[in-house]
Amino acid sequence: MERKVVVVVAVSVAAVACGMAAAAVGWRVRKRREWKKAVRVVREVEEECETSVERLRQVVDAMAVEMHAGLASEGGSKLKMLLTHVHNLPNGSERGTYYALDLEGTYFRVLRVHLNGQQSAILEHEVELQTIPQHLLTSTSKDFFDFIASSLKEFVEKEDDSELSVARRKELGLTFSFPIKQISVCSGILITWTKGFSIVDMVRKDVPACLQEALVRKGLDLRVAALVNDTVGTLALGHYHDADTVAAIVIGTSTNACYLERTDAIIKCQGLLTTSRSMVVNMEWGNFWSSHLPRTSYDIDLNAESPNPNDQGFEKMISGMYLGDIVRRIILKMSLESDILGHISSKFSMPFILSTPMIAAMHEDDSPNLREVERILKDILEIPDVPLKVRKLMMKVCGIVTRRAARLAAAGIIGILKKIGRDGSGGITGGRRSDMKMRRTVVAIEGGLYSNYTLFREYLHEALHEILGEDIAKHVILKVTEDGSGIGTALLAASHSSNNVDRI
Ligand code: BGC
Repeated sequence: MERKVVVVVAVSVAAVACGMAAAAVGWRVRKRREWKKAVRVVREVEEECETSVERLRQVVDAMAVEMHAGLASEGGSKLKMLLTHVHNLPNGSERGTYYALDLEGTYFRVLRVHLNGQQSAILEHEVELQTIPQHLLTSTSKDFFDFIASSLKEFVEKEDDSELSVARRKELGLTFSFPIKQISVCSGILITWTKGFSIVDMVRKDVPACLQEALVRKGLDLRVAALVNDTVGTLALGHYHDADTVAAIVIGTSTNACYLERTDAIIKCQGLLTTSRSMVVNMEWGNFWSSHLPRTSYDIDLNAESPNPNDQGFEKMISGMYLGDIVRRIILKMSLESDILGHISSKFSMPFILSTPMIAAMHEDDSPNLREVERILKDILEIPDVPLKVRKLMMKVCGIVTRRAARLAAAGIIGILKKIGRDGSGGITGGRRSDMKMRRTVVAIEGGLYSNYTLFREYLHEALHEILGEDIAKHVILKVTEDGSGIGTALLAASHSSNNVDRI
């Protein structure tokens, strides 16, 4: 009897053990299957984001072709190729005290810059930062500019009556980084708002005139001498320090580029005469589009759900505003197709919850156990206890999206160089490389994505070298400027000042 009991117990234990082993095997098989599904999502996106040198060269050509089209006729391309009427870039001889007003979005800055007429020697500058009350972003142009003019008045009146500022009419450069149709260097009509602004009565109005009227209302004798896009301010500052600077890029939350073009190439504005025979063109390159851009279903969805579908297509692939959200969409797909992240938190469905600085922090996490990735997944997306190998996969997704953005930005830059014959190929019609003497070419660059995200910057440089080849690439220098949209704009106010009429 006793023996029988022992046998029954032994059989039961064995059966349970077998059951457990089978369950463990089943669990492992299922886990492996789920893992493979997640990896498949990543592999697919990697393939779709592929930016081989061949593809990048197609993007370079498309950019140059679209630039031609945008210069040939109004509306000839998605690239607006806006005339800025800036044809004299600062060269270091500017002297005096000038102001700049930089309207950035949720805040604005005012600057006072003292110049002493010696190259590269900005005597000093003071900056004041102010928040724009949210309700003014959707109010009337009068309310908006009255608020700005009051703050400006306070700032200007704090000035001491130093030798530099007496007996000169005070002048200001206005940085207004929205698409503007400029009529002269100091006037221009707003085409459309971006970045959350929606002061409806301002569209199609002359922006500096609105500011000038508000300054008069507040009794401030300050002339708006230049209306400037942030890229143009960046180019001005770059050129002030280095005369080989021919183009400027802003790549941060949003993106854009400008460059110095020959006036005879601006076909849509025949008979344009400038003393320098050139003019800075604001490309508004965020709106560039080409079928050669590697577009994924995530980009298509992001575009469809954005407030401006079919606009700013290039910006949506390469700028800081969107990279985090592309990553979020990919991770969401992974978690819907597999269970590697466990329960899907509602945070996942919140657009823009994952910002680009967060993906930079995940991507550049060099701690052995990817603690930063773990922290962001837990604190931001509310996904705790993500295993290390899954964290590595997340990091890879950040890399794929960032690499594509940086490489496309590099192709865009080379597209500009190609258009102006500075890519070593002899311009858009081609030429024999060996005949060409490549000139030193400097591109001024600003924006947090480039300045703060090391891997983005490295990918961009790597692509630049791959596309151009080492011999040409060594002549192309990307130079970070600091505060082009502030100091650069003040420099443009100086070079277009009525106190300096001989220079205009
Ligand atoms: C604007 C450009 C600006 C860029 C960078 C874009 O959204 O349309 O004018 O230069 O942002 O600030």
